[in-house]
This record gives sequence, C-alpha cells and structure tokens, in this order.
Amino acid sequence: MLCRAGGVKQGTGVERRTQVAIVGAGPAGLVLAHLLGRCGVDCVVLEARSRHYVEHRVRAGVLEHPTVELLCDNGVGERLQREGLRHRGISLRFDRADHPLDFVALTGRSITVYGQQEVVKDLIAARLAAGGDIVFEVGDVRLGGLDGGEPEVAYTDGDGAEQVLRAAVVAGCDGFHGVCRPTIPAPALEVFEREYPFAWLGILAKAAPVRQEVTYAYSDRGFALASMRSPEVTRLYLQVEPDETLETWPDGRIWEELNARLALDRGFALNEGPIVERGITAMRSFVVEPMRYGRLFLAGDAAHIVPPTGAKGMNLAVADVAVLAEALERFFRTGRTDGLDGYSERCLRRVWRAEHFSWWMTSMLHLAPGADPFTRRLQLSQLRYVTSSPVAATSLAENYVGLPYGA
Ligand code: FAD
Ligand code: PHB
Repeated sequence: MLCRAGGVKQGTGVERRTQVAIVGAGPAGLVLAHLLGRCGVDCVVLEARSRHYVEHRVRAGVLEHPTVELLCDNGVGERLQREGLRHRGISLRFDRADHPLDFVALTGRSITVYGQQEVVKDLIAARLAAGGDIVFEVGDVRLGGLDGGEPEVAYTDGDGAEQVLRAAVVAGCDGFHGVCRPTIPAPALEVFEREYPFAWLGILAKAAPVRQEVTYAYSDRGFALASMRSPEVTRLYLQVEPDETLETWPDGRIWEELNARLALDRGFALNEGPIVERGITAMRSFVVEPMRYGRLFLAGDAAHIVPPTGAKGMNLAVADVAVLAEALERFFRTGRTDGLDGYSERCLRRVWRAEHFSWWMTSMLHLAPGADPFTRRLQLSQLRYVTSSPVAATSLAENYVGLPYGA
C-alpha cells in the first residue's frame, strides 16, 4: 500500500519532505522533474556531480521523434527546434559506398541531432526558472524505508553536512553506476545481460561534418560512425578493443583509422580539426526486471543499458519517465495506484524492443574479434537487404525514429 504522504517541502534544514525524491540529474531525472513540476507534483532532484559537469558531459546525440515531441509539447523544445539538426534519415556505408535510408519517406518521421548535454542544459534552466529544486554535489546517498514505512534518502550536501529527504516515492534515475539499483535486494530483481567484445572510442572535433547524414560504416577494419553536433563540430566513433586505452590512440592514428573505415570507392576524406573531447565506452546490453521495488521506481540507465549503435539510451530514459510522471500524477491527484503498478511492465515492452534493435544494429555493423567469413557474409547480406528491400528498410526506420509511446 502506498501512502500519499508528503506534499510540502520544509525549509532547507537537515530533514526535508517532498512528494518525489529523484536521484540523478541526467535526462531521466530532469525530464521527470520537469513533467512533475508541470502537473503540480512536488519533487527534489539530488545529483552527485556539479551543474557544470552534467551540463558538459558529452554523450548521446540522436533524439527520436517521440522524444522531440515530448520535449516540445512540454515547453522545453524552443532551443532544440532552433539549433537541433533535423535529419530525414541515416546512411549505412558498406562495400565502399553509401546506402541512404530516408526515414521520412519510409515512416513520415525524422530524427533530430541535438547533444544530450544541450537537453540537460535546457531542462536545468527550465526547472530552476520554475522554482524547482535541484541539489548538486550531494555525496554518500543512501536509501531507506522502500518496502514499508516512509522512504527516505540520506545524503551529505556540498558542505559535507548530513541531510535527510523524506518522500512518498523515490525515483532512481542515477544511471548504470548509481546507488538505487544496488540498494534493491538481489533476489528481488532478475538481471539480463550481454557484454560485447568491443568498445567505442568517441571524439568530438572542431571540424565541419563532411556529410549531412549520420553515417554508420561497416568495413573489414571494424565499425566507424560519423555524426555531428553542429555545422562546425563533428562527432566520430571507432570500434576498438574492449580494454583499449586512449594513450594508444594519438590523434593521427584516430584520423587515419576513421578515414580508412569510412573510405568510399569514389574517394572520401574527413575534415580534420582539433579534438576537444575523447572517451572510450564499453558496449553492454543490460535489463533488470521489474523496474520497481516497493516505493522505488528505476528509470533510464539505472534499469537498462543498450549498446549505442541504435541511438536509443537517452530516448528510452525519456520514455520511462513519461510513463512514470503520468502514473505519479494520477497517484497524487486521485490516490489510484494502477499506473504505478503497471509502470514496470509498460516500460519493459519498449525497453525490450529497443534492446533487440540495438543488439541487432550492433551485430550487423561490428566485426567481432575472430569473426569467421560466414558471419561476415551474413552481415553483408543483412546490410544489402535492409538498404534494398522497402519492407526491411521500413522496419529499421520505424525502430530508429522511435515507436509511438504506448505502441
Ligand atoms: P545518466 O545520464 O547516466 O544520468 C544519471 C545521473 O545520476 C548522472 O548525472 C549522475 O552523475 C547521477 N548520479 C549517479 N550516481 C548518483 C548518486 N549516487 N547520487 C546522485 N546522483 C547520482 N543515447 C541515445 O538515446 N542516443 C544516442 O545517440 C546515444 N549515444 C551515446 C553515445 C555514447 C558514447 C554513450 C556513452 C551513451 C550514448 N547514449 C545514447 C546513451 C545515453 O547517453 C544514456 O542512455 C543516457 O545518459 C541515460 O540517461 P539517464 O538519465 O538514465 O542516466
Ligand atoms: C551521436 O551523434 O553521438 C550518435 C549518433 C548515433 C549513434 C550513437 C551516437 O548511434
């Protein structure tokens, strides 16, 4: 039985009360806070990092259609519509040629390239302008009272002082390495996991993108991806060994390898420029079921991870909290728990579709170490099929642009 206790936040003393305690100010936590704020549900966001850090953490870049729609419909799409790069589709590059997929022609929907950190900036600005509460640089977050009594989140503030936030519900939006999921007793969760024998080395460079489309390249040297953030900034990725370090990838080697994997028979060269950010990301598929334990609701990367090849992670995080916000609004307005009770099942349907799509895109485009010629012929056959059959192309496009919420 959930109790609707809470409602009024009490000062800034050592103990406070709110309706929803949100752990994590990534896309999941911030979109949830924004949606709850718009329907009058009180919440506090607790974030381990500084505002500057979360606003400059370079990660995702592709927003699917339903994500753009949700942000625009809820008043945080103004800059996104102005500065985001709307794309009709993507290109799959293999056999040293481009094979474009026109999503607008195939599905009537497009995607938008707009950096995750820009979404985060817009959401923080909107939340603070609305008088919302985001506490940055919290430490030692501990959760209690999740399966009975009143949930509480204890933490230390930026000055190291002990604080307690009491809430009717806790939203665990603290990403894959956060504390919320590990707080749940192991027998209460079923874990589904797959690791991949490669990682992505990603760079952000001050150089104009060569092509308009986000380009996924399959080559005998491994996978490469050419994306962008603006007409002056390119975002590029290379498949590398899972245990590789940045020291083994000086700038010259990165550019050379990108050019080799993106090569075209008709000739191709990237515009090169200063690399302003670089990082290596492990590739993993991961889901926990259910996405709830008592009064703790997990959302986004805290509950599931996809390899980035399908560009789904941030979009899934937003889709989860759209469901959660609606369920919480109903609960606090009417006391009905059906939305909250159905939360995990409803989200998991979309999550597993995205898990499959991301695994499929990853398997089609990467070269696993020691991949045999049979596997490589299958990959090429699949690539040729999805770029030549309108039915297969539409299936890829429908997943990439994002299935409608509730589908
Ligand atoms: P996060 O963004 O991880 O946010 C969690 C927040 O919780 C963080 O701010 C963290 O500091 C905070 N936190 C952690 N622990 C605590 C704690 N104990 N207490 C308080 N706060 C805590 N997705 C896409 O949709 N499209 C893409 O194109 C795409 N490309 C990607 C490329 C790369 C290289 C990577 C790494 C990811 C990509 N993703 C992409 C995935 C996407 O970035 C994530 O899925 C997304 O960030 C998930 O959002 P989230 O809010 O769930 O988690
Ligand atoms: C990006 O622009 O960062 C990006 C694009 C497509 C992906 C992943 C990341 O699949």
